[in-house]
Amino acid sequence: MSTARFAVFGHPIAQSLSPRIHAAFGRQCGIPLEYTAIDAPPDGFAAALECFAADGGRGCNVTLPLKEIAFSLCTQASSRAQRAGACNTLTRRDGQWHGDTTDGAGLVRDLTGRQGLDLRARRVLLLGAGGAARGVAPALLDAGIGELVVVNRTPERADALVDALGEPGRAHSRYWEDLRELGDFELIVNATSAGRDQSSGFTAPLSLVNSRSVAVDLNYGEAAIPFLAWARSAGCLEAIDGLGMLVEQAAEAFELWHGVRPLTDAVYAELRERDKTLATAD
Ligand code: ATR
Repeated sequence: MSTARFAVFGHPIAQSLSPRIHAAFGRQCGIPLEYTAIDAPPDGFAAALECFAADGGRGCNVTLPLKEIAFSLCTQASSRAQRAGACNTLTRRDGQWHGDTTDGAGLVRDLTGRQGLDLRARRVLLLGAGGAARGVAPALLDAGIGELVVVNRTPERADALVDALGEPGRAHSRYWEDLRELGDFELIVNATSAGRDQSSGFTAPLSLVNSRSVAVDLNYGEAAIPFLAWARSAGCLEAIDGLGMLVEQAAEAFELWHGVRPLTDAVYAELRERDKTLATAD
């Protein structure tokens, strides 16, 4: 059997854990595959993707800052990718790219499976309205949450996200300046990229938190530290980083490509163990 080619595109991409995760899934499932990390700036992504396809690339993941461009380069996209307006998983079929997004499903699976949370009827605060927020908002609604409040530094983007969700009964946008007046939330999701700028901390009103609040950062590693530090000091019951979501979105992509769902617990545990700098949720 020839080795199938897969990759993750991003900019930067050197730190990506995806090659390690997919290699581990491949070993576990007895599927030979090559999965590499390819650095592509936004203006070079389309050409890099064509080159990858010409070299036999069968599928790829796409990460920052290329997810919206990836969506625009797909001939077809799943309904969840269309709702997100972004793709993190592309599959080559009949000479064309088919787009999907597995981020939202990955987050929900991590929260409900690994973390044991019941999301139904929960009041959820989503901080941020960029690509990461758009990727997870539909899946949170589909998981049965009671209310989604979207707050973003630039309010127009929060309005646009909420409009695109098309659920005026459950999803609302509010101003960042009004966080103090929003009451408390059972789940607080940080989908901003603020933590990637190591110079700044994270602050938000303590009134957002009750004794059962769970905070989750879609980032992992150093980028998740400021928000998770705030969540702990604010008294959140749990503060979870995005490593579990990363492994789960990868499993979902692996299943799309190979038709087999890999087990994720061992891979998750290995990543936690091997890189203690990621262990911000323990
Ligand atoms: P991503 O794909 O990671 O979501 P993005 O689309 O550039 O990246 O979105 C970044 C998000 O983080 C946005 O919601 C952004 O807010 P703006 O829309 O106002 O730019 C948010 N963000 C970035 N830096 C921030 C900061 N210092 N404070 C608050 N929000 C910030």
